[in-house]
Amino acid sequence: MAQDIFERIKKDRGPIGIHAKESHGYFTFPKLEGDIGPHMIFRGKKRLNWSLNNYLGLANHPEVRKADTDGAAQFGLAAPMGARMMSGNSNYHEQLENELSAFVGKEDTILCNFGYQAMVSAIDCLVDRRDVIVYDAESHACILDGVRLHMGKRYVFKHNDVEDCEKQLQRATKLVEETGGGILVITEGVFGMRGDQGKLKEIVDLKKKFNFRLFVDDAHGIGTLGATGAGTGEEQGCQDGVDVYFGTFAKSFALVGGFISSEEQVVEYLRYNMRSQIFAKALPLPLVYGALKRLELMRTQPQFKEKLWTITNALQSGLKEAGFEIGPTDSCVTPVYMNGSIPESTNLIFDLRENYNIFCSMVVYPVVPKGMIILRLIPTAVHTMEDVQYTIESFSKIVGKLKAGEYMSDKIASV
Ligand SMILES: Cc1ncc(COP(=O)(O)O)c(C=O)c1O
Repeated sequence: MAQDIFERIKKDRGPIGIHAKESHGYFTFPKLEGDIGPHMIFRGKKRLNWSLNNYLGLANHPEVRKADTDGAAQFGLAAPMGARMMSGNSNYHEQLENELSAFVGKEDTILCNFGYQAMVSAIDCLVDRRDVIVYDAESHACILDGVRLHMGKRYVFKHNDVEDCEKQLQRATKLVEETGGGILVITEGVFGMRGDQGKLKEIVDLKKKFNFRLFVDDAHGIGTLGATGAGTGEEQGCQDGVDVYFGTFAKSFALVGGFISSEEQVVEYLRYNMRSQIFAKALPLPLVYGALKRLELMRTQPQFKEKLWTITNALQSGLKEAGFEIGPTDSCVTPVYMNGSIPESTNLIFDLRENYNIFCSMVVYPVVPKGMIILRLIPTAVHTMEDVQYTIESFSKIVGKLKAGEYMSDKIASV
């Protein structure tokens, strides 16, 4: 018998949605208020905040705030009206594209109205049904969604396992020899959950054996890695081998939007064929104007990145010295791994927020295996050494309580 879709979704709330009733407004959809920075208001109280991807601290930088205000005053929020191709182009869009191309060392760039849909749509646009996609198993949802649109074959390799990547490239090569298609390898510069860098250099080296193009989502790498902040490819000395480079404005840039950089003809192809950009309104002008200011600061003020890494190194080495497991991170993303059940992690986070005034994200099953808790810290250039020290001391106290079984109570923290 046919099902009523609404009846089904009223019963099956989804893996996170099943917790909505107890969590909404506290563990999920919390409201952080006040100026964006390391100390924000949550439920009326100031908390030390480690949960925003404001890596370089630009969100509330006075020059950035001024550019954002000036941009809105000058252009309004409506402009430009329409998609780039039809009526939404501007000199500012083109200027930003040129400056981004120079920044990441590519011939050309296309601006995109959202990072997520840029990735989905670019993957869809670059391949046809004869092509094979080879991608990392722990890729971000936007890559997985892009791959889902692909009409041809896809082979997944074990996370950051170059040997397995090579195996999948062998399978893919066999297949494209039959179909006459090509191979697109997709991975990330930095994996946002564990913080480990993608093995870009090793994958680029595989080009000596296989014929493929490499597409890298560098959402967490842009602005944080590489001598000039050009990202993970620059950090690993293989940016030239990255054929298509994606960066979002949602993290280091502290903005909205994203971009894709590549060879001129590839970018032109994307401009004229990428459905999410042809059939959607262009990035608003104030955002483009604001992005130009952020890029200028990134290029001219290396101290933001230096400070970010001072804080990151102090946080990561301090946590390790205090006995915490932070896994294979080699980026600013700092996950702290603990063992405990979902009720324990809920009680722990509640204690951390209410009694230590520390706000960070928690990752539990089904995102990580049952019994594992990750407290995910995102350092920024505007955190201080005192913030780092206080956090490590507080974490030592809560992990002591976790080990002593103090969070095991049946009574889940009520919010
Ligand atoms: C790896 C990765 N790719 C893509 C995105 C999506 O970018 P945006 O937030 O600009 O849509 C994110 C999250 O912001 C991300 O972490």
